[in-house]
Amino acid sequence: MGRRWAAASETADDQFGRLSDAGYRALGDLSGLHVLDVGCGSGGTTAQLADLAGPQGSVVGIDPSSDVLVHAARATAERNVRLVHGDAQTHAFADGAFDVVFSRLGVMFFEDPAAAFVNLRRCTAVGGRLAFTCWPVRELVPLLILPLRALAGLVQLPPSAPPGSPNPFSLGDVAATTALLERAGWREVAVEELRWQVDLPDDATDAARTWLTTIPVTLSVVDPDLDTRAELLAALAAAVPDSRRLEQLALSFTATA
Ligand SMILES: C[S@@+](CC[C@H](N)C(=O)[O-])C[C@H]1O[C@@H](n2cnc3c(N)ncnc32)[C@H](O)[C@@H]1O
Repeated sequence: MGRRWAAASETADDQFGRLSDAGYRALGDLSGLHVLDVGCGSGGTTAQLADLAGPQGSVVGIDPSSDVLVHAARATAERNVRLVHGDAQTHAFADGAFDVVFSRLGVMFFEDPAAAFVNLRRCTAVGGRLAFTCWPVRELVPLLILPLRALAGLVQLPPSAPPGSPNPFSLGDVAATTALLERAGWREVAVEELRWQVDLPDDATDAARTWLTTIPVTLSVVDPDLDTRAELLAALAAAVPDSRRLEQLALSFTATA
């Protein structure tokens, strides 16, 4: 999965730039600060955070996938960045090591979210800030859900995830996630809804190909290099809305340690 996410990372930086921008905006001036990028993936946000933190600051990117970290090393070369191959839920960073904990779509996959957010608070200095984006409940994420529905019957879909299990929508219930953060010791929890439109290519087959090759949830059920069945593209093309436009929502959470 990490290998496929790495391949899709350029599109991710394009499509999800507004999510990271919302996080940067919420955090304000990062110059001179020590920042943790959780689930840093291919390092697009890690490099931007390093630029924002400047020469007096530093960034640590953590991810359990060695495949994406190869790309992250390239993306962050010659910046004040350290990459850690590990699990942010349990990694033993020093107490109060960071001024800021940031994540773009990298905090929904913890086995034990309660323990993970305690661990992240522990390694944040008192008064330090948390800013992450995550998906809302699945019905509000057509970008991920339309292609999965279209592929049902053609590929093996994962069983629907029980509440609390790691999955892209695991933090989508605003009240539950706010309570989770507060129980983990985070204060001043706030959430902003980010709405935008994703424009798909005019040609439905091109749009289907984009879905098949760049959307992580789709990539988790089909390897487009191995499964080249024409009916996959046809099913996806049929699911592309006539408007070629998807109304998209994400959640931007902030909190203080
Ligand atoms: C949807 S990708 C987002 C990547 C990157 N933040 C971006 O926006 O381009 C989710 C990332 O979270 C990472 N991840 C999953 N579980 C994690 C954990 N327990 N600790 C740290 N990162 C994790 C995955 O390996 C993956 O790279």
